[in-house]
Amino acid sequence: MGSRLVAGALVGQLGRRLVSQPSSRMPLWCSALRTVTTVPPPGKAASVAEGGKEQAVASYWGISPSKVTKEDGAEWKWTSFRPGDSYSADLSVDLKKHHVPITAIDKIALRTIKILRVPTDIFFQKRYGCRAMMLETVAAVPGMVAGLLLHLRSLRRFEHSGGWIRALLEEAENERMHLMTFMEVSEPRWYERALVITVQGVFFNAYLLAYILSPRLAHRLVGYLEEEAIHSYTEFLKELDAGRIENVPAPAIAVDYWRLPSDATLRDVVLSVRADEAHHRDVNHFASDIHTHGRQLRDIPAPLGYH
Ligand SMILES: [Fe+2]
Ligand SMILES: [Fe+2]
Repeated sequence: MGSRLVAGALVGQLGRRLVSQPSSRMPLWCSALRTVTTVPPPGKAASVAEGGKEQAVASYWGISPSKVTKEDGAEWKWTSFRPGDSYSADLSVDLKKHHVPITAIDKIALRTIKILRVPTDIFFQKRYGCRAMMLETVAAVPGMVAGLLLHLRSLRRFEHSGGWIRALLEEAENERMHLMTFMEVSEPRWYERALVITVQGVFFNAYLLAYILSPRLAHRLVGYLEEEAIHSYTEFLKELDAGRIENVPAPAIAVDYWRLPSDATLRDVVLSVRADEAHHRDVNHFASDIHTHGRQLRDIPAPLGYH
């Protein structure tokens, strides 16, 4: 009964949205939907008969999103993240750390990333703003894939994840926030958007397969990818310092997300993003090391608390 009600409510909402369109554009089947669905108005309750008794059912559309304010009482305008998701990047992180490849898997991972860098360098050259934005569309994939696979494993095997599901999903979300930030200062061209769609289709499936076959290799790949990201953002900073890229004010989303001062600039944003990438580098090399030592991620607590 419950699922039928949910389905009814959703179909009803869909129907109402569709029938609210101009009649000239209304698909024929919309009118059918309108006649078979009834949904209470937002905030109202519906009455349904269950086993002969009337039972009140709250409408899901009566649920209003919570209103969030900042410390100074101002309303929090972001719907994509909350004050609790914001943090200060650890700028003291060691940027020069490099995992020296020892095993064959390490060498394969490093070689793969170095090869992938060649077309990236050719395509973007010194357009670091665009390069950063485009690379973030790729960088946000591995954490989500790994988190998804560990989630499914946890369900299948009735076992805890050691916090790794959350850590990897946090990484994916952090990378997506990098993208949300860079898209404020860089406008992708049509062929770059097309490239993102193509690359995502290939990379998602390739990484999914890699993680299923060898999580050790998959995490090592990301560790080296993050080393390259640190290099790219260091070059980005050089261009900013040389004045070849304008050091514009930091986007509002970055000021709130990294708790930057209100007069922060793009340079401050890039410093924060680079520190995040160094953290991802360490987390993924750590995860690969755990597998290298024949252990499972769930055996070692995940480094949580830093995105
Ligand atoms: Fe990133
Ligand atoms: Fe990263």
